[in-house]
Amino acid sequence: MKAPFSKTVEAKPHTPVYTMHKYFARRPWNVFSELISHYSSPHEIILDPFCGGGVTVVESLKLRRRTVGVDVNPLATYVTEMQAKPVNSDLFRQAFLELSERVEQEIKPLYSTMCSKCGGAAVADWIEWNEQAKQILRLKYDCPTCGATREKTPNQDDIRLAEKVAMNFVQTVKQRGLWFPRTRIPNGDKTSSLLKQGVNSFSELFTRRNLLALAILLKEIRKVRDSEAREFLKFAFSSSLKWASRQSHLRAQIVEGWAMHAYWIYPKSLEINVWNTFWRRITAVLRGKRYSNEHIGEYYQPARNFKDLSSGKASCLVVNRSATRLPLSDESVDAVITDPPYGANVNYGELSDFWFIWLSGGKTTRKRDEVIINRTQGKALQDYERLLYKVLKECYRVLKPHRSLVSTFNSRDMRVVASFITAASRAGFTLDPNGVFYQKPIRPYATTFHAMQIGAFVGDFIFTFIKDPTSSLARRASKYDLPKLRQDLTEMIEDAERNETTESKLRENAYGTLIPFLATHSQGDMRACREAVDFFETTMSEREVYFRNLRRTITERRRRAFLNEQRS
Ligand SMILES: C[S@@+](CC[C@H](N)C(=O)[O-])C[C@H]1O[C@@H](n2cnc3c(N)ncnc32)[C@H](O)[C@@H]1O
Ligand SMILES: [Zn+2]
Repeated sequence: MKAPFSKTVEAKPHTPVYTMHKYFARRPWNVFSELISHYSSPHEIILDPFCGGGVTVVESLKLRRRTVGVDVNPLATYVTEMQAKPVNSDLFRQAFLELSERVEQEIKPLYSTMCSKCGGAAVADWIEWNEQAKQILRLKYDCPTCGATREKTPNQDDIRLAEKVAMNFVQTVKQRGLWFPRTRIPNGDKTSSLLKQGVNSFSELFTRRNLLALAILLKEIRKVRDSEAREFLKFAFSSSLKWASRQSHLRAQIVEGWAMHAYWIYPKSLEINVWNTFWRRITAVLRGKRYSNEHIGEYYQPARNFKDLSSGKASCLVVNRSATRLPLSDESVDAVITDPPYGANVNYGELSDFWFIWLSGGKTTRKRDEVIINRTQGKALQDYERLLYKVLKECYRVLKPHRSLVSTFNSRDMRVVASFITAASRAGFTLDPNGVFYQKPIRPYATTFHAMQIGAFVGDFIFTFIKDPTSSLARRASKYDLPKLRQDLTEMIEDAERNETTESKLRENAYGTLIPFLATHSQGDMRACREAVDFFETTMSEREVYFRNLRRTITERRRRAFLNEQRS
């Protein structure tokens, strides 16, 4: 058995393969790459039952491991496959050029404006709207005549053009036989705010102008004859959606697409030129594919089923289904490397519908088996734990004996962490005595002012569990009892108060004490586990105001230091 991974790895920003298309909460690729190298050898089989944005799958292939990625969310498996499979870049570029000839001149005039410097014809790159007043605030454009890149306030023509496109929308769509999803927004924890605002269908998240441009673009993409090129053009189209909706906005001078883990239209929204966006996404896809062609290339051989993979005929199996039942044989996998959903942290299913309806002819994702805490889906913490347990039990079944299940995990709520550990222990796994390791986050993210303010965990814990069928409960029995744990935690909290330790740092320390306790008691004494976690969370919530104030004080102090540094 291998010693658990304990190397400090500086998390690196995403490689081009992961910037082709948004998926929520991708973990740092180089940390996963190190984990795969540590826990397996070339050509062994790596499973990720929650493959999400495909980091485990892509990094496994890069390292010449065979790999299985499973996800209940069809957007996740779609993005994962598109990241892994190669494309003929020349054919793809050629197909794009042909497409441009057909549609560029049709879409661009939708955004035409006049240069305020030379009076020449220009095309707006974005148009900022006051959402409440439904008024254009300003436009940004590049002028092909005088070369200016400028912002301007709208004139009558700009206002009239937007009105005209909106007014003719229904007729144009009908006349030209255009399609866009008319799917109504289902009620959900993350969608209820939209419904309350009176936004009832996903199409309302776009201006009529952008919706029209998207529908024209999609229709033309569908006509592309070469199936591989068509597929990747559609991928770039899907990737554009994040930027094309009314959820885009300016943060200082930076143009941001939809970046939140919630649906949200800002009071000042951006209507970004669909053609320009598509063009940028094509460039991103070309860059990403150059990278994957180089690092994975022909090693990617898609499997139709597990037999293809186990026989060595194929290297990659991506399955869109719930991992509560895995289509794999017993004891067939060499390592499980994964990143499960952290409680209610991100509502993958609800948020992915924004893209998926465009890819599925209007259908939304199935959420019944999603491992999540979600009130609308009727899933509380116990349901989350039950579903997670089912997945981990399947992982235990398919994993070879004495091999590892490695998982990143993090939550501000210890009850969620406890659920995860309990689920793993009940599934049969043993937490390695040295199997908890804190991994720092990607640096640029950790040092943004935003991250400073929240004071939330932004790194991850890496847990190493082992499938050790011989490990008996007796061997696991711990001398560390509940009263002692309470005493240690109390001291830790009092200490934190004396030293102005932040809540996140304190939680990070408390993990070190609580997790081994949970891991050793969760098979025999569930009551002790629940009591330990409840004790900790209750004590913490009694100090909620204190920690909030401390966070404010520290943030203010950092803000001042930050500004001083900028000035000097
Ligand atoms: C944190 S994400 C994974 C992120 C991923 N490690 C990455 O690098 O992008 C968790 C994933 O679990 C998936 N999931 C939730 N319930 C599932 C289930 N029952 N079976 C398979 N996947 C599930 C979600 O759809 C989501 O994509
Ligand atoms: Zn000009």
